[in-house]
Amino acid sequence: MLKGGVGKSTIAVNLADRLAARGNDVLFADLDPNGHASMGLGFKDAYRDTDEHLGNVLFEGGDSGPMDVVHDSGFGFDVVPSSANLARVERRLRNSMFSDVRLRRDFVDPLLSGEAYDYVVTDTPAYRGALADNALVATQNLIVPLTPGHEALAGFERTLQRQIKPVREQIGLDILAVVPNRVSGRMDQQNLDRVLVEDLNRNFGEFVPEFARITPEEFDAIDDGRLTDLPKPGLRDRKAFTEAFGENKPVAHYDPENDAVEHLDALAEHVVAEVGR
Ligand SMILES: Nc1ncnc2c1ncn2[C@@H]1O[C@H](COP(=O)(O)OP(=O)(O)O)[C@@H](O)[C@H]1O
Ligand SMILES: [Mg+2]
Repeated sequence: MLKGGVGKSTIAVNLADRLAARGNDVLFADLDPNGHASMGLGFKDAYRDTDEHLGNVLFEGGDSGPMDVVHDSGFGFDVVPSSANLARVERRLRNSMFSDVRLRRDFVDPLLSGEAYDYVVTDTPAYRGALADNALVATQNLIVPLTPGHEALAGFERTLQRQIKPVREQIGLDILAVVPNRVSGRMDQQNLDRVLVEDLNRNFGEFVPEFARITPEEFDAIDDGRLTDLPKPGLRDRKAFTEAFGENKPVAHYDPENDAVEHLDALAEHVVAEVGR
């Protein structure tokens, strides 16, 4: 439900990994028919498998239960890989009864109430549709990545008004965090990175996790040259993310020393505190 390429899949996979690293039982469900996140975890074959996929669980007549489509990532969390069938599932959902609640009713609730998992993290398509709506209804929590660029925040504001707010009122949807991603610019210079971080903190401070928070006083101190140890807010632009993807690993398993891991751990901690489990 947010434009492609901002880091939805990257953050979803790595958040699942870091939640698991904290000792939680975590399920990562890839609901994007493009299967990008699943490929990045090495589930190429499962993507092509036409027998066991989420569609069978969501529609009556399918003889699969939730655990039939769950795989072990090998990294301490479980995965429901995307499949080539998901595009069809999207269309079937649109034309079915209870189209928005099926994932919750037939998949997530049974797993959570059976105490199989502490957390279910989903990755969603970039477009608004039945799968994205199902993910919102099932998890009731949302993490929004934003990358520096012209109008990044204006886009979020539109999404918030048009798509998030209406659902929020109906189902009690919470925004867990808005995460500036791929930040690289210095905070003492006027660039799109600073504009994003400053505007986000000013207008949506309540959604900004600690590792991306900079107060107006701190920006003043930065501009006066009083703060010489410049903050490096948000998830930084690190090539380790793409390299880790190429090696089919979460970034912490590819380059544990990378500073991205610290920030992802902070995001996981933030999520745990927000969800309050
Ligand atoms: N913080 C980051 N630093 C460097 N590359 C990143 C970062 N976040 C995402 N990427 C890269 O950007 C591309 C798009 O990310 P992805 O998570 O697939 O976006 P989305 O799911 O929103 O379409 C991928 O190649 C990914 O490796
Ligand atoms: Mg994606």
